[in-house]
Amino acid sequence: MKIRFSILLLFIGAIFGLMACEKEQKQYVIGVSQCSEDIWRDKLNDELIMGTYQHDNVKLRFASANDDDRLQARQIRRFLREGIDLLIVSPNQLHTISSAIDEAYDRGIPVILFDRKTDSRKYTAFIGADNFEAGWEMGNFIVNKLKGRGNIVEISGLEGSSPAIERHRGFMKAISRHPEIKLIARRHAGWLKQKGETEMDNILDSVTEKIDFVFAQNDRMGLGARQASLKHGFKETKFVGIDALPTPGGGLENVRDGRLAASYIYPTRGDLVMQLAMNILENRPFKRDNYLKGALVTRENADVLLMQGEEMAKQRARLSSLHSKVDSYLAQYNHQKMYLLLFSIIILLLIGIIVYTYRTALAKRRLEREAVNAKLQFFTNISHELRTPLTLIAEPVKHIMTDPNLTRKQQNMLQIVNRNVAILIRLVNEILDFRKIQNGKMELTLTSFNLGEHMHRWLELFAASAEKKHIKLQLYVHDQLPMLADLHKVEQISYNLLSNAIKHTPRGGEITLSATQQDQNVRITVADNGPGIPYDEQPHIFKRFYQTRTSNKGGTGIGLAIVKSFAEIQGGSVTLESTPGKGAAFTATLPLTVQDIKAKTSSTEHTMAQPYEMPANVITGKITNTANNEKPHLLVVDDNADICAYIAEILDPNYNITLAADGREALNKALRDVPDIILCDVMMPVMDGMEFCRRIKQDIITSHIPVVLLTARSLDEQRTEGYNCGADAYITKPFTAELLKSRLQSLIDNRRLMKIAFSADSPMPSIPKSAETIFVDKFRQIIQTKLSDPELNVDRISNEMALSKAQLYRKIKALTGTSPADILREARLKRAERYLQTTDKNIAEIAYEVGFSSPSYFTKCYREYFGHTPNKRQSI
Ligand code: FRU
Repeated sequence: MKIRFSILLLFIGAIFGLMACEKEQKQYVIGVSQCSEDIWRDKLNDELIMGTYQHDNVKLRFASANDDDRLQARQIRRFLREGIDLLIVSPNQLHTISSAIDEAYDRGIPVILFDRKTDSRKYTAFIGADNFEAGWEMGNFIVNKLKGRGNIVEISGLEGSSPAIERHRGFMKAISRHPEIKLIARRHAGWLKQKGETEMDNILDSVTEKIDFVFAQNDRMGLGARQASLKHGFKETKFVGIDALPTPGGGLENVRDGRLAASYIYPTRGDLVMQLAMNILENRPFKRDNYLKGALVTRENADVLLMQGEEMAKQRARLSSLHSKVDSYLAQYNHQKMYLLLFSIIILLLIGIIVYTYRTALAKRRLEREAVNAKLQFFTNISHELRTPLTLIAEPVKHIMTDPNLTRKQQNMLQIVNRNVAILIRLVNEILDFRKIQNGKMELTLTSFNLGEHMHRWLELFAASAEKKHIKLQLYVHDQLPMLADLHKVEQISYNLLSNAIKHTPRGGEITLSATQQDQNVRITVADNGPGIPYDEQPHIFKRFYQTRTSNKGGTGIGLAIVKSFAEIQGGSVTLESTPGKGAAFTATLPLTVQDIKAKTSSTEHTMAQPYEMPANVITGKITNTANNEKPHLLVVDDNADICAYIAEILDPNYNITLAADGREALNKALRDVPDIILCDVMMPVMDGMEFCRRIKQDIITSHIPVVLLTARSLDEQRTEGYNCGADAYITKPFTAELLKSRLQSLIDNRRLMKIAFSADSPMPSIPKSAETIFVDKFRQIIQTKLSDPELNVDRISNEMALSKAQLYRKIKALTGTSPADILREARLKRAERYLQTTDKNIAEIAYEVGFSSPSYFTKCYREYFGHTPNKRQSI
């Protein structure tokens, strides 16, 4: 089973492992450092984000420096601190950001420059349009438009930024071939519309010549310059820019609408930037310098390009919405996957637990079955073994019992043997029957008989035991109740039910045996008014080997199982009705005519089984007829009459014996008689031996009495339990008469030693303080303090000690060997003796002082005790 669990755990582990592997793919963080914020860069950023859609393992982090070099350098360094795998950077100017970018490069972080460049070679790759080409194209456009003659103004981007430098160079190259074309002014406007307007304002303020064309290095600055120009009333001037963004307000729209004469597509292509980044990160081949294609936009193609751009924008929006949908589905899917996984694990665990529990239950049941079978087999073997020796005991005993020369004692002993052999034979037969039932080999022997007649006989057999417990037996049956059934089994059913009832019904109870005909069946009921059976135990009562919790009466636990089997084998059933505290009624319902093709039928009447006969004598009461005061008084407590009888037989010569059948009866007798020693069984009805022993040891009247527990319970812990109850000795059955005698004798001898100790005027210091020493001390103290009182007598002392006179007598006698009256007299005489020696008082005075009512009686007692008359001089 352990292996199965390990497999299950491995499986679960594997599922988790797989999940973990799924997530194992390397995650990249790319830092994107933008020099400024505008629609061109917004578009680029969007495209970068879309570029990540194809790569699950990439996370972008953006920073925008707002045209501030120092800020951009700081932002790059923050990226480095926080950890990035690749840096995409558009440096604001050529020189100023280089050191931060170099730092990243030196740390081994790949660097992609896009759109703008630095003056350093420390970059992994560049991607962007060819700015020289852009300037060159726009120069040529203007040259063409001016047809080789005219005045131009250039509004340039940020002075130190690479595109501004390169675009100017390209532009100059294009126009320089036409001497009639003059660049009459050039201003830097930092790529900003507002600045474009301002710089144009300045130019217009200072320039007097007519301006035919303004070349702005981007569309935004071009539009700003146009505004300034219009402000100044120059409507003829034409403007060109670069970027040609397809977005609203972008270059394409402005070219289409004529605000700009031309523009140049300065591509963003964030998708390609992303692709390049992934190639570098995933070690795929890439080109170091990647120039993107641009194109001239004029009024002629602006419309088409705009339409194209709008279409592209729509597609991008659609893609983006699709992507967010996919994202949310993916999140849902991941949740579902997790739930599914958890669900699968729970199901697997449940299956595991169920399988485990089922297999454990099966194994347990198998083991139980095996244990029961082994037990039964063992009992059966033993029973078979016992049968022969039992027969060999029973028969010779019966034979010897017929001998007329036997003494009464011998007859008694043989009767005990005979009765107990009968019990053993019945028990052995019961076990063998039970085995037969278990193996399905029990057969029926059908006979015709009159149930009424047999029931009378069966009940009679229990008369003696019922009488012993003062139980009233009643029989209700029709005199003529013919049956065809297995008589032995019907008898066994009745016998078992009756003997159970006798066992459990307390003294003075009532048992009724009845049989009533009901259609084709007969109902045999044994009802008692005993303690009944607890409701929770009722369903188990017919199970083999079942012992009720409350039962301390032993037994094999197969009696009721046999009743059930014997009823069922004859086509009947057995039921129980019981109200706890009010009694129990067992009913066997049997067919009046048992049908069984396999059954053997016997025409002859069944020979009655010889049931156990209870001993005729009632066991309780004093069995020693002539009480001998010299012999110690022994109280024997056992619910088994034979044990009582046997013990009485073997101990009678040495003890005065009183018998009791259960703990309660024995307790009453012990308090009344205060015996010298008690011999007590443990498992008994009403009050068991343990409880009895505990109570004996708790009561000051009886606490000194040695208790010997005599029991079949031989385990060490059972012994310990016995000693914990205060038992002085523990003898297990079977026992030998010799052992029993010597154990009792040694306890009696011990008590004698104690008597010697207690008989001294004050108990010896060697005696540990106990209830007994305290008791004797108290007794002596009462005497010593009230000695001079002539009224002090044993009656008053027993009153003060809250005991009856007889109880005080027995207790003091048991502890000291002397009667309380003798001790009192002795104390008075000893005090008188002291007075004689130490005072001048005369004899009469002393006699009264020590509590004698007359001097003459004092003198008589004194002489008896000391052997001389109370003479003062003599005693000095
Ligand atoms: C955007 C921008 C564009 C220009 C480019 C040059 O920030 O100003 O308008 O073409 O940068 O780097």
